[in-house]
This record gives sequence, C-alpha cells and structure tokens, in this order.
Amino acid sequence: MFFFKSKIKVSESALLNDFTDCHCHLLPGVDDGVKTVENTLRILDMMHRHGVREVWLTPHIMEEHPNSPEDLQHRFESLPYDGPIQLHLAAEHMIDREFCLERASKLPLQGDKLLVETSYFNPPINMKETLRDIKVSGLHPVLAHPCRYQYMEPEDYEELHSLGIIFQLNIPALTGIYGPAAEKNAQWLLDKGYYSLAGTDTHSVTHFRHFLDSKMPKKLMRKIERFLEELKQQQG
Ligand SMILES: [Fe+2]
Repeated sequence: MFFFKSKIKVSESALLNDFTDCHCHLLPGVDDGVKTVENTLRILDMMHRHGVREVWLTPHIMEEHPNSPEDLQHRFESLPYDGPIQLHLAAEHMIDREFCLERASKLPLQGDKLLVETSYFNPPINMKETLRDIKVSGLHPVLAHPCRYQYMEPEDYEELHSLGIIFQLNIPALTGIYGPAAEKNAQWLLDKGYYSLAGTDTHSVTHFRHFLDSKMPKKLMRKIERFLEELKQQQG
C-alpha cells in the first residue's frame, strides 16, 4: 500500500527560494514586531537558509507607533547586518487620523509604491479619498493583507482592484494562521489573480518559525509557487 503526502511543510518547499519579502516587521524595537537586533539577525539567517533574496523592512507608522521616517532611517542604517540578503526600508502606513501623505511619501515601497493598511474592523471614513490622494501624488497604493479586513466583501475587493489599488498577499494567511475567514479571502483573491505583491508580515522568531513549520496542500503550494514565479518574471 502506498501513502502520498497530501500536505507539505513550507520549510520543505521551494516557496521562499529567490523570494522578495515586501512586508515584514524586522526593524527591531520600533513597533509590535521584532524587539531585539539579535532576533532580527536570527530571522534574516533563517530567511537566507530558505532562499530569501531581498527583504523590505516595513515598520508600522500609526497612532500606536508614531515613528518618524527620519528615526526609522537612522535605525535602519545602524542595523549591523552584513549577510547576503538585500535589505531595504519602507513602512506600513496606517490610514487613520494621523495619516500624513507628505510624511508617508518619505518611506515608499520599491520607489513608486506606498504600503498602506486600515483597521481590521472598520474602514476609515476617508479611505477612498486617501487612496486617490496617494495616486494623485504619483505613488501606487498597495493595500497590505487585504484578506484580513473583516469589513470587506468581494465587491469591495473588486472595486478597489478596478481603481488600481495593488493587493499584497500575506503568504502565511494561506496556512490559516490568521483564522479561516482570512484564509478563505486569501484563497479567493489568489484565484481571482488580484495579488501583485507578496510578503510574510513576519513579527517575531516564533511567528516565522510557525510559518516554516506550517503545512499546506500540495496543490495550493504549487499555485503560490506559480504566482511567485510570475511576480519574479514581472519584476525582471
Ligand atoms: Fe504588517
């Protein structure tokens, strides 16, 4: 009798091979992410061993974490990392009462994009206007982890996508780490072809290790690998 593994671990897949992580909280001590330089270096070492090529550090800028771009830049430049992963600094900008486009535009993602998020529970009253203002300023808004917003329905995703808002896949969502609703939304968005960027949203050693140890159906793993391959080809 033969037994076939229907699920495989992320750590045993080629998922992160040559991967560019566009969203993670590895800048230590500035938000709810990694707290110490040692843990940042540990995660970067784990990422390198699994093939990650490039990482965008995207600390929160929000009411609870009112980081200034200048301070984040200074801390980023002080990070004692001399490994092979290419590191860059951007930020995850919360659309809240404190959102300031002039400040946010000092920390874009990949030069011409702006990574933004909202509350998980309620849309900000000025969401559409803010997204429009970002576009008018010449930056492309990237909505972080759209699968996690409990107030969004399929028609909301469709409308935002039609407005040219870029959706960023949090890969761990597809392992069920954020619960079944976010997992289902992430699968739906992936199947619709709505994602154009990907990240791990890593917050800690435990978080990243949990992601590596999690299992996914082989079919889903192949689907994500195909999506990531397309991204690589688009990015040249
Ligand atoms: Fe995040």
